Amino acid sequence: MTEQERDAVPALEAHGITVTFGGLTAVNNVDIRIMSGKIVGLIGPNGAGKSTLFSVLSGLLRPRSGQVLINGEDVTHASPQQRAHRGMARTFQHPELFLGLTVREHVVLAYRVAQTPRRIWTDMVTAGGFRPSSRAENERVDLIISGLNLTDIQHRPAVGLPLGLARLVELARSFAREPRFLLLDEASSGLDAAETEELQGVLRQMVERRGVSLLMVEHDVEMVLGMADYVYVLDFGSLIAEGTPEQIRTNADVRAAYLGEQIDAPPAAPAVEVTA
Ligand SMILES: Nc1ncnc2c1ncn2[C@@H]1O[C@H](COP(=O)(O)OP(=O)(O)OP(=O)(O)O)[C@@H](O)[C@H]1O
Ligand SMILES: [Mg+2]
Repeated sequence: MTEQERDAVPALEAHGITVTFGGLTAVNNVDIRIMSGKIVGLIGPNGAGKSTLFSVLSGLLRPRSGQVLINGEDVTHASPQQRAHRGMARTFQHPELFLGLTVREHVVLAYRVAQTPRRIWTDMVTAGGFRPSSRAENERVDLIISGLNLTDIQHRPAVGLPLGLARLVELARSFAREPRFLLLDEASSGLDAAETEELQGVLRQMVERRGVSLLMVEHDVEMVLGMADYVYVLDFGSLIAEGTPEQIRTNADVRAAYLGEQIDAPPAAPAVEVTA
């Protein structure tokens, strides 16, 4: 395979995904592709099927039909853990943090699980806690923590942090696993404007510096249109549009699905100032 051919295989791809719950078709014959090193957005009104599709991609839900491929390899029947071994990491909408562990310990734990999955449980069970960090581990963990501006709170217990910080801890853990692609489930929900901006900066760096591919499932349409290279729009389980943010912004079906409310019109000519 030449380098170009390899680059042309999507990092993550789904074909003909259909999911039904009883009589309801939550996802209807959907195709999506996430190319390596790109940011892809998945948006749609409430109940459109975003979370359901996300669960199919991350391996929590089996589709009724369709295929999921990681780097061209069929993983439709692979568990979330098997997908993680192939470079997939995900964040949860509600960060799941461990009582009693500090911010730094969460990152160290995630790093060790990725490096030596078996050893970690032996350490926890038989050695009664954490073994000391190696220098390489410390350096890597420092880099992740400082990159997410968590240095000042790294020794605080992670449980009880405000949501914005808990989200960053959740991201730090996923970065520690050195993912090749990252699925974000409503990463910005509950964050204020400043926190959302910080999150965007961190994610952009992740893509630019590490070549990670991102799939963002988001309520915040403006965030997705501002960040993504390519956007998919779901409505009532079906894809109603896909394209660049500009194409999505001006798409009539998309505007109708959102009743034109959440999507700013393209910049108009500057208003003429009227003085009385
Ligand atoms: N486990 C389930 N059992 C039955 N119906 C479900 C289940 N999960 C989702 N649904 C239904 O499937 C449809 C799609 O839901 P989904 O949660 O994927 O939408 P969404 O786009 O993520 O919505 P939101 O923006 O509100 O998060 C909805 O009609 C929902 O009620
Ligand atoms: Mg959802």
